[in-house]
Amino acid sequence: MFTPKPIGFVHSPFKDAAAIPKGLGAKHPEEGVLEILPAFAAGLTDIEGFSHLIVLWVFDRIEVSDGFDLMVTPPTDSRPHGLFTTRSPRRPNPIALTVVELLRREGALLHVRGVDMLDGTPILDIKPYLSNIPEEKLRRGWLAEAETRKG
Ligand SMILES: C[S@@+](CC[C@H](N)C(=O)[O-])C[C@H]1O[C@@H](n2cnc3c(N)ncnc32)[C@H](O)[C@@H]1O
Repeated sequence: MFTPKPIGFVHSPFKDAAAIPKGLGAKHPEEGVLEILPAFAAGLTDIEGFSHLIVLWVFDRIEVSDGFDLMVTPPTDSRPHGLFTTRSPRRPNPIALTVVELLRREGALLHVRGVDMLDGTPILDIKPYLSNIPEEKLRRGWLAEAETRKG
């Protein structure tokens, strides 16, 4: 279909997947830097006006994301759920999505809060985060039930 090419790389405090917070209520306050390659830097024009960004990136560490199962038991629950209802790193196409808060831009460096990726992770794309779905319309599927069970 197409050969993905990184537009940049993540500088993250996480060198080890085990250190990244997981499970119910996990928070991601860690700051990192998205370094965009010079060839793509002009595409950041006007980005300062957006508070949050969607970052599409690659689960490139094979030791974390090798293969996949269609039913998975996520760290948020003790019950198995369909892969496509989870954020498991083990998927047919190892593509990840993280919403980060843009703190500031320094040329081709985007300082952000909310990283959950390992240091050196390749970035595929960046888009502004614009949610227009009213909260009352959002359903949280099995996660809501798991949260109720855990109290
Ligand atoms: C649960 S996934 C969620 C990622 C993203 N927010 C999403 O929803 O697609 C986050 C986990 O991916 C793993 N991870 C982070 N960076 C990775 C990388 N470069 N390659 C493979 N796995 C990675 C870590 O184990 C981390 O806890």
